[in-house]
Amino acid sequence: MADKDDRNFPGHIGIIMDGNGRWAEKRGLARIIGHRAGMKAVEEIVDRASGLGIKYLSLYAFSTENWRRTPIEIDGLRELFRIYLMNKVEKMRSRGVRIRFAGRVDAFGPDITKSARDAEEYTKNNAKLTVVFCVNYGGRQEIVDAVNNLLSERVEGPVTEEALRSRMYLPDVPDPDLLIRTGGELRMSNFLLWESAYSEYYFTDMYWPDFNGEELEKAVLDYSRRERRYGVA
Ligand code: IPE
Ligand code: IPE
Ligand code: MG
Repeated sequence: MADKDDRNFPGHIGIIMDGNGRWAEKRGLARIIGHRAGMKAVEEIVDRASGLGIKYLSLYAFSTENWRRTPIEIDGLRELFRIYLMNKVEKMRSRGVRIRFAGRVDAFGPDITKSARDAEEYTKNNAKLTVVFCVNYGGRQEIVDAVNNLLSERVEGPVTEEALRSRMYLPDVPDPDLLIRTGGELRMSNFLLWESAYSEYYFTDMYWPDFNGEELEKAVLDYSRRERRYGVA
């Protein structure tokens, strides 16, 4: 079997998991039912990514802008995060998944923050696939936080790209090679702004709860046929 480099598969995939609400509304169901269905899709995608030999998967679960939603929807999402952390961490650990978080998770309260930190600690020795849950994540917020870190460390200027890069939330995680957005919108919605400078994009109209392993594979194969030039002629 060909190794990862021969296949030209992405090492790091980021996914904007959009369309849960519309998936539910189309069926006359409450939006939270769509989020619950979306959580199921996460499990399948994690398994397939692992099977494909992907090393990093960043999943956009809640943006810094999503606080603009109704309290009912936000409470429902908080509950789903809690359920996920309670029920799925063991399974992910047994499959060699390392769990990490990016974003200001603490805004979701001390119990979710603790469960998130526990999950990171509990899975930290796994190396097969790292899944980064981006929760209360904003790309602009991440850059602002990095600048404030530099200021508080009293780093002397001029500031370099490397100095800024090393103060992003997860500086040891390589930049995403492929960014997928489900749900039909053609925008980044504040996801991984710094890290996506040279990422390849893949958009699909499919709503997130309908996205499955086969669709992930389609996106990966599409990526594998692309030529990345990084500015070279
Ligand atoms: C994405 O689905 C999940 C979150 C933002 C938490 P949406 O909830 O944005 O679904 P649509 O875009 O309204 O269909
Ligand atoms: C992006 O989806 C955020 C997540 C998937 C978590 P949104 O539904 O919030 O994005 P917009 O509002 O359509 O740009
Ligand atoms: Mg949306």
